[in-house]
Amino acid sequence: MASRLIYGCMGLGGPWDAPDYGSEQVRQAEAAVEAALALGITRFDHADIYGRGKSEAVFGELLQGSPGLRDRIQLQSKVGIRLGEGGGFGHYDLSASAILDGVAGTLRRLRTDYLDLLLLHRPDPLLDPAEVGSALTRLLADGAVRAVGVSNMSAAQMGALQDHLHVPLAADQLELSLHHHGFVDSTVLVNHADGAATGFPHGTLEHCLRHGIEVQAWSPLAGGRYTGRNVAEPGPHDGAVAALVSELAAAKGTTVEAVVLGWLLRHPARIAPVIGSATPQRIAACADAEAVGGAMTREEWFALYQTARGRSIP
Ligand SMILES: NC(=O)c1ccc[n+]([C@@H]2O[C@H](COP(=O)([O-])OP(=O)(O)OC[C@H]3O[C@@H](n4cnc5c(N)ncnc54)[C@H](OP(=O)(O)O)[C@@H]3O)[C@@H](O)[C@H]2O)c1
Repeated sequence: MASRLIYGCMGLGGPWDAPDYGSEQVRQAEAAVEAALALGITRFDHADIYGRGKSEAVFGELLQGSPGLRDRIQLQSKVGIRLGEGGGFGHYDLSASAILDGVAGTLRRLRTDYLDLLLLHRPDPLLDPAEVGSALTRLLADGAVRAVGVSNMSAAQMGALQDHLHVPLAADQLELSLHHHGFVDSTVLVNHADGAATGFPHGTLEHCLRHGIEVQAWSPLAGGRYTGRNVAEPGPHDGAVAALVSELAAAKGTTVEAVVLGWLLRHPARIAPVIGSATPQRIAACADAEAVGGAMTREEWFALYQTARGRSIP
């Protein structure tokens, strides 16, 4: 059975600022993709900007070298962020020409003639919903993309776009994890003075559930902060969360990665985590995530949430 996990390709293709990739990066990408396929993962997440185009390009090379692979997987990518001088972030651009040119570049680098899903990377404050709608409609009609969705958008922003589309938006990709738990705070603090400060647009997950929009979670492992990585800016509760994650993993006979992902997978929004490790062993360590999520008790789920939150629920 296909996994609910998605493999995030942002780490493929070598360092962001390297001008190109070489055979070593091709081998690394191949090993990561093989590890993902071995878990039953069939969906691969890209963006035109990842590695300044190298992530898609190295993946395209793998596709070319592996006949039949394209038919066994689903590819999604994102457009809408323009890089500035030197490769840093420039500005957002969801004009029709940026969307159409962005998809053309993505298809060229990935060496494919269609995307299974196109996501609009971030909300562009200057976007015109009617213009975006007609660009997406053209891509759908041409067969360049088979479905469209968004990333980092609220229910209201999705609603404004949906008014100009003849197909339902398929997905919203958001930062969701034990660390970035504002999506749960916004639920439990709905009638509370702290509710406005959660940083998560209240009602987004409910909107997705009501309209059949898949919720995808980026950085679902929180960059490894609870699973053994020394992050640059540890939070005050990281140590306690990591200890509880380890304790639960030992009790369940599984990995710490499976517990961190299982916490997301237990949520009724049917969240699809987009895992970003490029290390085959760490990808393999995610194998039990769905089983662990399915069996996670309310007590375990709330213990993880409240430890990450650093205080009890109101
Ligand atoms: N829509 C958006 O705006 C957006 C934004 C960011 C990302 N994304 C997508 O989400 C995907 C996942 O993002 P992510 O990579 O931030 O998420 P993640 O899965 O939470 O973290 C993976 C990263 O953490 C590192 N890591 C994990 N455990 C570790 C450990 N124990 N020790 C050392 N390093 C560890 C991995 O390094 P190794 O590679 O060495 O394992 C990798 O760099 C991306 O690939 C991309 O597709 C989307």
